[in-house]
Amino acid sequence: MTVKIPDPADLCDIEKASRDEISALQLRRLKETLQHAYDNVPHYRRAFDAKGVHPDDLRQLSDLSKFPFTVKADLRNNYPFGLFAVPREKIARIHASSGTTGKPTVVGYTLNDIGTWADLVARSIRAAGGRPGDMVHVSYGYGLFTGGLGAHYGAERAGCTVIPMSGGQSEKQVQLINDFKPDIIMVTPSYMQVLIEEFTRQGLDPAASSLKVGIFGAEPWTEAMRHDIERKAALDAVDIYGLSEVMGPGVASECVETKDGPVIWEDHFYPEIIHPETGEPVADGEEGELVFTSLTKEAMPIIRYRTRDLTRLLPPTARSFRRMGKIVGRSDDMMIIRGVNVFPTQVEEIVLAHAKLTGLYQMHLSREGLLDEVEVHCELQPELRGTDERERGEIAQWVQQRIKTLIGISTRVRVMEPDSIERTLTGKARRVIDKRPR
Ligand code: DLL
Repeated sequence: MTVKIPDPADLCDIEKASRDEISALQLRRLKETLQHAYDNVPHYRRAFDAKGVHPDDLRQLSDLSKFPFTVKADLRNNYPFGLFAVPREKIARIHASSGTTGKPTVVGYTLNDIGTWADLVARSIRAAGGRPGDMVHVSYGYGLFTGGLGAHYGAERAGCTVIPMSGGQSEKQVQLINDFKPDIIMVTPSYMQVLIEEFTRQGLDPAASSLKVGIFGAEPWTEAMRHDIERKAALDAVDIYGLSEVMGPGVASECVETKDGPVIWEDHFYPEIIHPETGEPVADGEEGELVFTSLTKEAMPIIRYRTRDLTRLLPPTARSFRRMGKIVGRSDDMMIIRGVNVFPTQVEEIVLAHAKLTGLYQMHLSREGLLDEVEVHCELQPELRGTDERERGEIAQWVQQRIKTLIGISTRVRVMEPDSIERTLTGKARRVIDKRPR
């Protein structure tokens, strides 16, 4: 596979800038953002006043830690448009995330915001090896979810030919990939696994498809998953990160030549890592909760947004900006099972290590008496339909023993027929079904 490494002449100046230049730009933009939020969003004015801070108190970047955090509940409490900093008529687009309960989280963009977003997704596509003229198949869901339209505008901005496929209809997805021959696919990693299976089901070899690059994100995924997808589909798999509250896809994205964690587009977003319990900043390189402040957003500036995503900040490599480590999980995904902290991604690595399983899995939690019970469901490769009980039992035992040894919890494992694990419409996999009483 030929990996296209960008010619340095094609990078934006800021992608090659010195740390001092980046910091100076961040400080200027951060001051403007704090002032914009304070002047135009009553929530921020109240929150800053309550903490006794004023935008003028920011003299250096580290002063940001004096300012209050923003959390998801602040978006809900200001539903629907209370955090907008411009008049409603200036809002060009609204997105929302459904959430599992209650009101959706609503975000808004001015035309300039949409332009910035397209630029950053285009930058992400270029970092992944995409070039003008490439064909991009977008399987992130279109609609209120930021994935589809975010990827779409970015791919157009990058000068690519876009196929706005959206999620679902796996059979048709594979047919179009086969007929149109796109170079790049943008999709959740778990839905990519479904598509790989669908290729096999149709008697096609996924490794023989035209796809050279996959830009995967919107959910946590492991290095094991990267290797599995790269091996089966013979493409370069890179990681794109983002969240609707901060923008959507393209807050950070990985460079194909290094594949060493998403590069944070630090000219537009200021990252911090904090201790998830104390809220205190931790040093670069230490793991904690990722917090973002937008630096250029007009419609909905966001100050110190607690993402709940757990990761680390890493030094620059392929670009001048810092990187983030792969997301370990969300602090709200962490399960405490009989006292052991467990993330679904740990189970993913084990399931993927068995050649007869697809890598799709679900963890069902229940409580029997006082004890938590975990049942892990995994799925046979499509060509193994009808595998007998005895062999399924052996595979289950293998997974169960690895989980016990590597994670330290006892589980029941069910090895199910191909296609048994639910596929969601947004393409984000539902890894944990928690039926324990609250
Ligand atoms: O998932 C935006 C997006 C779309 C990103 C397409 C990448 C590609 P939300 O629906 O608001 O936005 O969900 C955001 O998804 O806080 C993370 O927990 C998770 N997430 C997103 N990207 C990654 C990633 C979109 N690359 C939430 N790795 C975030 C791990 C990710 N988790």
